[in-house]
Amino acid sequence: MTLEEKIGQLSMAEGSGHGTTRGVQSAIRQGNLGSLFNVHGSGIVRELQRLAIEETRLAIPLLFGLDVLHGHRTIFPIPLAEAAAFDPTLWEATARAAAAEASRDGIMLTFAPMLDLARDPRWGRIAESPGEDPLVGSRFAAAKVRGFQGRSLSDPTSLAATAKHIGAYGAVTAGREYASSDLSERTLLELHLPAFKAAADAGVAAVMAAFTDIAGVPAHANVTLLREILRRAWGFDGVVISDYGAVAELVPRGVAADLAEAAALALTAGVDIDMMGNAYRRGLPGALARGLVGLEAVDAAVMRVLRLKERLGLFDEPYRGLSRDAPADDGPGRGLAREAARRSIVLLTNDGVLPLPRGLRRIAVVGPLAAAARPMLGPWAAIGDGTAATTIADGLRQALPDCVVDVSGGVSIAGSDTNGIADACRIAETADVVVLCLGEDETMSGEAGSRAHPELPGAQRTLAEVMLDLGKPVIALIASGRPLIVPWLVERASAVLATWFLGHEAGHAIADVLIGAANPSGRLPVSWPRDVGQIPIFYAERPTGRPEIAANRFTSKYLDMPATPQFPFGHGLSYCRFVLSGLRSTTTEIRRGQHLEIAVDVTNEGPVAGEETVLFFIHDPVASVARPLLELKDFAKIRLMPGERGTVTFNLTSEAFIFPGRSLAPVLEVGEIELFVGKSADRDSLLRTSIRVIVAQDRLAGQLVSARPDPV
Ligand code: GLC
Repeated sequence: MTLEEKIGQLSMAEGSGHGTTRGVQSAIRQGNLGSLFNVHGSGIVRELQRLAIEETRLAIPLLFGLDVLHGHRTIFPIPLAEAAAFDPTLWEATARAAAAEASRDGIMLTFAPMLDLARDPRWGRIAESPGEDPLVGSRFAAAKVRGFQGRSLSDPTSLAATAKHIGAYGAVTAGREYASSDLSERTLLELHLPAFKAAADAGVAAVMAAFTDIAGVPAHANVTLLREILRRAWGFDGVVISDYGAVAELVPRGVAADLAEAAALALTAGVDIDMMGNAYRRGLPGALARGLVGLEAVDAAVMRVLRLKERLGLFDEPYRGLSRDAPADDGPGRGLAREAARRSIVLLTNDGVLPLPRGLRRIAVVGPLAAAARPMLGPWAAIGDGTAATTIADGLRQALPDCVVDVSGGVSIAGSDTNGIADACRIAETADVVVLCLGEDETMSGEAGSRAHPELPGAQRTLAEVMLDLGKPVIALIASGRPLIVPWLVERASAVLATWFLGHEAGHAIADVLIGAANPSGRLPVSWPRDVGQIPIFYAERPTGRPEIAANRFTSKYLDMPATPQFPFGHGLSYCRFVLSGLRSTTTEIRRGQHLEIAVDVTNEGPVAGEETVLFFIHDPVASVARPLLELKDFAKIRLMPGERGTVTFNLTSEAFIFPGRSLAPVLEVGEIELFVGKSADRDSLLRTSIRVIVAQDRLAGQLVSARPDPV
């Protein structure tokens, strides 16, 4: 291979859906391009692949990538919504279905799953994330990699998955997109990296670096992150892909004087493919000539890219997947999309108005999201057809054929015009119940979707308050890519549901839940703030020396509002009442390497069948490093008929109590560990027991012997 051909394999260019620029086609012919993204469809993919195979010296097949995050043609709930299902089987199934659809369109690489954990709903990409918890993120990562990649990458229905964006992108300053991330190494290790480690352990084929820096060292130039941790410590041998133009952006990020330095820094750190930056093509020759990087680094990167193409079977079958007939758009995906959407809905409050009673005569469906179709797909909707989404109004009409369903937008999603509120009043006044459809559109979250005020946009609050003032039952649905700050709505509405962006089957799934055809089971994967002033807000806080005491000013709290979230991580109501009891452990002591079993009974106190999610937390009250007040260590679901009692069991080993010690090396320390089981991170509501770790490393060894004088 010539140097130009080698650099070509390390360069990825963007197409434009069903087409590409002439520049791209000539670059392919010259062997200067190894992969494309945002090009899909059997016709164009077959033609471009033919160019690479038949009109280049080396006939190396192209990689075709696309952001298939939550569906390809059939769109499923956004990742933050799907995380609310707390169900790895579901997460894997929707990825598998998306892979089958995308591979038919010639895609063989998806830039998913996105695994950046987020504690800040101002950041728009929280919508793409599995939420705030590293265990949920890890289970989500492994399930998505299994789903996208299937049993083998050479299977033509599989996609190579990309764990993105390593690391700590979700920690951007003030939730502002592309800003700097400044955090402790401990937070990086304990919060932001576990999901990527889980993806690596699941065999993810690629990793994408984050636009951002970690305390001043950009991910794309971060040898510690990409070589020491990702490749050496975790054994990842796949391909690292840059984010869009991010190698070239090392110059404005202040660590490279020119493209040659940027290219050398990225290649040295281990970035194999330069996406849309031309930094490798324009910078590497100069970098090599100036001795900033050696040819062996180029060769190593080229080998990893060629190995990925070989694992995908492209050298044997460059037109993989294209030969299969695409099913009709309403293929099996729509059924799964409806089930996934039902299970992603979180019932936040309910004064008993839900499920809607039978025999309703008239309902008013009001608000800018009532008849909105495209917003239901949310951000990153691949090639999903927005017009094919079932709207909330249509879903209710189909679910309630004998009921009059009046619809009025009232206001637009983001506009200030309130003239439409009069029409909304007109239909609400004659209705038995008002279904208020509020929230964001699909552009207000996702990439470049940061919002300093994560509240209802435009004049929606004005509309909502007029509806609430009518004195009728108001069911508020919040369609959004993030928790929205609506304490006034929570206070006054009869019921509030987080419906996120649920995909093509949004309307049907919402109607299923409102009429009781589906019993809501979603649980919040993020803490829901009362106010932007509380952000960042998350459940796994470290203890303070002055826990809040209402009557004592000098304790940890705000003067002007509670410090607790509007709704805690794990919150979610059901149409039945689950009671947890009888928490028990098979042992009260544990040694390093031993197992233990935690069990709790769950009773469905009726009146309908339902699914409960049980969370298992620990807290180490005394350790060499202060440990979070709660750490999620497992979760499980149980389905029970009315009146039925079941048992949920968690099996764990002493590994569950290991944490990064003062030197950040993993430690297991002797002492008591508190064990909690319950429905959410509301500590006061949890069942509690404890065990003792009796054989392990002494907590005080090596850190107090010198610091603490001998006891007198
Ligand atoms: C974007 C996103 C990344 C995506 C890529 C290709 O800038 O940061 O998540 O995969 O470009 O679309």
